Amino acid sequence: MNLMLLGAPGAGKGTQAVELAKLLGIPQVSTGDIFRANIKGNTELGKLASSYISKGMLVPDEVTFDIVKDRLLQDDCKNGVILDGFPRTIAQADMLDKFFAEIGRKLDYVVNIVVDDAAVVARLSRRRICPDCKQSFHLDFAPPAGEKCTNCGGTVVQRPDDVEEVIMQRLQEYHKQTAPLVEYYKEKGILVDSESVNDIEQALQNTKNAIGV
Ligand code: AP5
Ligand code: MG
Repeated sequence: MNLMLLGAPGAGKGTQAVELAKLLGIPQVSTGDIFRANIKGNTELGKLASSYISKGMLVPDEVTFDIVKDRLLQDDCKNGVILDGFPRTIAQADMLDKFFAEIGRKLDYVVNIVVDDAAVVARLSRRRICPDCKQSFHLDFAPPAGEKCTNCGGTVVQRPDDVEEVIMQRLQEYHKQTAPLVEYYKEKGILVDSESVNDIEQALQNTKNAIGV
């Protein structure tokens, strides 16, 4: 199955992608995680990505598409993928469509994870992540064990783009550039909605119901 999780920052894409990847036995491909790994490794891509991410802006389409394309051609993606945070613009969606057609694949579902802006701010301002295994935590809804990741024991940190000013900019980018994908995929007949209620288990169940797993 090729699945895409579409949603505002903080909708729960990463949280749900990790669980769905285990359930479906296919990898999560998160452009945000790939960029962060490059920022950590101080690569050229990392330096470029950081100049956008730190301001809450989107990384240019061609740069983003190139890394996704390389990732999709890797062996572990051949039975399907969970795209988390890509595509995020109509141009990226068109590029993906064309590329999938070339390699004889297609998106089966686009899950529109619905959340309101107030919940986004509450979620992101109290999020912590594990830089080692990428698990997301929330100080109230899904707390780590003190400073430690409950999954791998790593030390959790706050993402530098999870500060209010950058969160607001990310939300603006979402509404301007990414939200139009809801109509785009609705017209293609592959969009399903999943309400991201403030209960992680129930929100995941809503997504499973939407895609019939
Ligand atoms: P990315 O890393 O994808 O960030 P994002 O889209 O802003 O999304 P987040 O990771 O913040 O949110 P999420 O939906 O994964 O939520 P999570 O599950 O963690 O991208 C970062 C940056 O990279 C972008 O700003 C951009 O610059 C660049 N970039 C990435 N992809 C790009 C692309 N395709 N094109 C161009 N640029 C790109 O959950 C959030 C919090 O809420 C956690 O604390 C979690 O525990 C909690 N939570 C989750 N679900 C629930 C629930 N149901 N109830 C209560 N709490 C919940
Ligand atoms: Mg994420």
